Amino acid sequence: MLSRHLARRIASRSTPRVVRLSHSLPDFQLNSVNEQDVEHFSKILPKTSILSTLAPISTESSELEPYNTDWMNKYHGKSNTVMRPRTTQEVSEIVKWCHERRIGVVPQGGNTGLVGGGVPVRDEVVLNLGSMNKIRSFDPVSGILVADAGCILESLSEYLAPQNHIMPLDLGAKGSCHIGGNVATNAGGLRLLRYGSLHGSVLGLEVVLPDGTILDQLSVLRKDNTGYDLKQLFIGSEGTLGIITGVSILTAPAPNSSNNVILALPSFDNVKPLFKEAKRQLSEIMSAFEFIDRTAYDLAVKHGQGRALNEGDVEGAECFVLVETSGGNREHDEAKLNGLLESLLEADQPLINTGVLSQSPAQFSQLWAIREGITEAVSKEGKAYKYDISIPLGSFKEVVDTTREHLRSKGVLHDGAVKHVIGYGHVGDGNLHLNIVAEAYTQEIEDALEPFVYELVAKYKGSVSAEHGIGLMKTHALHYSKNATSIDLMRRIKSLFDPHGIMNPGKVLP
Ligand code: FAD
Ligand code: MLT
Ligand code: ZN
Repeated sequence: MLSRHLARRIASRSTPRVVRLSHSLPDFQLNSVNEQDVEHFSKILPKTSILSTLAPISTESSELEPYNTDWMNKYHGKSNTVMRPRTTQEVSEIVKWCHERRIGVVPQGGNTGLVGGGVPVRDEVVLNLGSMNKIRSFDPVSGILVADAGCILESLSEYLAPQNHIMPLDLGAKGSCHIGGNVATNAGGLRLLRYGSLHGSVLGLEVVLPDGTILDQLSVLRKDNTGYDLKQLFIGSEGTLGIITGVSILTAPAPNSSNNVILALPSFDNVKPLFKEAKRQLSEIMSAFEFIDRTAYDLAVKHGQGRALNEGDVEGAECFVLVETSGGNREHDEAKLNGLLESLLEADQPLINTGVLSQSPAQFSQLWAIREGITEAVSKEGKAYKYDISIPLGSFKEVVDTTREHLRSKGVLHDGAVKHVIGYGHVGDGNLHLNIVAEAYTQEIEDALEPFVYELVAKYKGSVSAEHGIGLMKTHALHYSKNATSIDLMRRIKSLFDPHGIMNPGKVLP
């Protein structure tokens, strides 16, 4: 339970405790929250919106654990104060105070991030947006939705469904992640192939800047060429430039018909020609083309994600591809998908062994659950080192195999604690999720993986983060994907917005 107490005026600001640096943690010097700060916060927010181990709130530290621990249980902060503001004004006043007091602030959404960006590095305050969860407006003609940043993605989809619209993004974390977190990470997900990135669908943002100023750019215009498009800077900035409090986004008309099929392939080499053929035959109705390697499939099934395919359908399969279609005419779409399946099966040299076509909405969801459930399955199987990379599609398998062999050569495969090396991801977007599933997070495994994986990515001129971001995990690897001039410009932008470096310190920039 959150505790309650009356606010008192802050006594003195002159004796801040300076956070000391540790070698293993990012280098920043900010002040810790003290009791006077908490008293001040409790003048801005109701005490029910504050969790703090300090008086006058005095919450049990165990209640702060979920906010200090990331989804993978890999990153652990030590914040003594978490706030859950309900309005932009409250966010602004908290941030203004933190700016003056040089207190670090970690914006937090649903805390489903996979790179340690949403939890404190040390004892920064956590500003969780979960209580800002109102829909501000929706125009069913233009499809433009304006919502508080703390709205859960799935709730937005549920709100839109009766209005025949869908969110332009979808991901396995939809039941917990916030639209603000999605924008802050520029989340990709399962619909990017069809609806593009958030850099295109986000029309406007409301952001509280690191000095507490409210930047109102909550535009509902499709077109606006009035100088620099400032909102783009916040999309994918991972909470380092400000706190997103409101989002204006272009939603899409719900498709009249959706179908999917899982294709079992005898060889990874067939994925590329299959993608080409699926695009050719399905053209405008193809809305997803997702890749699952055999080990990833087996893990999903082992941990009860979706419904397993028949033994006969998976026999001899090296990997699987899930194809989704979304279109306007059921008969036409089904005919196209059936046509694709038939032509694939009847080819002289078939690219697939077999295909399982969903026959009902329930089966449609079950097939998707196999793909969407891999993240969950991996987390049940062990501790995952997750590399989320952009590389040419043809090299997906080589990267997975090379990494596995490298780990074997380092003596950490199987007996040495790594259980599986798997690959899955968004083929249509050139995005491979390379996961190394281990018994535990250990320095030995990490040393075996890094910089090996990043150098492999650099060899293919790829990106060290296709969609999850840099967070805390990859600050040291940013240079593999951004040159010195770009990093220097990023630093200058950061110090322009956040001269005291309070906003999500230690994240993104090395
Ligand atoms: P958090 O985890 O709370 O925060 C993530 C980052 O954004 C942090 O740096 C945080 O400081 C910042 N942030 C959060 N809210 C705000 C805000 N209001 N203002 C400013 N900064 C903010 N990602 C993909 O791209 N594609 C996927 O398909 C995908 N699938 C996933 C499936 C699962 C099961 C899980 C657990 C994660 C998945 N993710 C995926 C990763 C993750 O990036 C997304 O889940 C999501 O975008 C994070 O949103 P969140 O609200 O949980 O943000
Ligand atoms: C996915 O595509 O499933 C997500 O990005 C999460 C993950 O990489 O596990
Ligand atoms: Zn993904």
